[in-house]
Amino acid sequence: MTVLVTGGAGYIGSFTVAALLARGERVVVLDNLSAGHRAAVPPEASLIVAELADADLAGIFETHSIDAVIHFAALTSVPESVQKPYSYFHNNTANTLRLVEAMRQAGVDKIVFSSTAAVYGEPQSNPITEDHPKNPQSPYGQSKYFSEQILAAFLVAHGVRHVALRYFNASGGAIDRGEDHTPETHLIPIALQVALGQRKSMSIFGTDWPTPDGTCVRDYIHIADLADAHLRALDHLRSGGASLQLNLGNGAGYSVAEVIAAARRVTGHAIPAVEAPRRAGDPSTLVASSEAARRILGWQPKFADLESIVESAWRWHHAHPHGYGDRT
Ligand SMILES: NC(=O)c1ccc[n+]([C@@H]2O[C@H](COP(=O)([O-])OP(=O)(O)OC[C@H]3O[C@@H](n4cnc5c(N)ncnc54)[C@H](O)[C@@H]3O)[C@@H](O)[C@H]2O)c1
Repeated sequence: MTVLVTGGAGYIGSFTVAALLARGERVVVLDNLSAGHRAAVPPEASLIVAELADADLAGIFETHSIDAVIHFAALTSVPESVQKPYSYFHNNTANTLRLVEAMRQAGVDKIVFSSTAAVYGEPQSNPITEDHPKNPQSPYGQSKYFSEQILAAFLVAHGVRHVALRYFNASGGAIDRGEDHTPETHLIPIALQVALGQRKSMSIFGTDWPTPDGTCVRDYIHIADLADAHLRALDHLRSGGASLQLNLGNGAGYSVAEVIAAARRVTGHAIPAVEAPRRAGDPSTLVASSEAARRILGWQPKFADLESIVESAWRWHHAHPHGYGDRT
């Protein structure tokens, strides 16, 4: 049995590939390296550098005896999706349709899918449970929500089962593996880039939100805990479990100001932060209820506190100030 991991050279994908290999799975990675890194793929995995839109999926399924797919490959920037809706619907939604149809034709009936908190839009209440209304506010969120609906339709029509994992803010790293996005848009790596002297300062978008300190509140989930959830989702499907949509977060919200304060403590750097206007479309608070993932998958996050998440990210960025070193 071999798992096909699309986007396995990316941030979350490469951690999950490493976790799969560590428990003895055979892994094939399909990645076009548009945002991923060859060096992020462990050498024990087979790497196919290919574009999901035109890769020979039937050939890959047959040659490698694929029994399940974990589908990370996507474009991931909310603001970019507003500028480039075609790219996002094509890359995220149409490619998911192509992949799941190829799975159906090959008789591969299990897929773990990277979805997102962005499917909910502005939450009516926190913590957000999976049955919260879906009102994605960007082409990115819509592209993922449409993909979930494709998976639901393929379940009904063809029995292809799925677990759609709706991540909140993936974060943290390891000494040899971590976040390396160009451009970087995520809060923790941006704060750490200031500490590394790669940026003079960082922006805080809005200090007048209806939150305790006026800055946006988010739910940060450590990358190792995310990877573990994927393995559990795969086991769930392999043991005949039903299709699921599950939130993955810590259930604890931290404000932008708290994250910057933690980065200052961890790095010993002042990390100057400049107040800037709110960005359109940013919800003030996004916190997950992951009660369903805990109950159904037996999943329990191990890195629940912000300090240890930021420390693990700093270990990576400090040791690898230019990430994997292939984009500088
Ligand atoms: N990082 C987060 O906080 C977060 C939150 C919610 C959801 N997600 C989702 O998780 C998944 C992984 O996110 P990430 O942060 O690891 O992003 P990433 O950009 O690091 O990884 C995505 C990978 O997919 C590859 N890829 C993209 N389009 C491709 C294509 N057409 N063909 C082949 N390969 C392609 C890229 O080269 C990259 O290696 C994405 O689907 C993203 O939408 C991420």
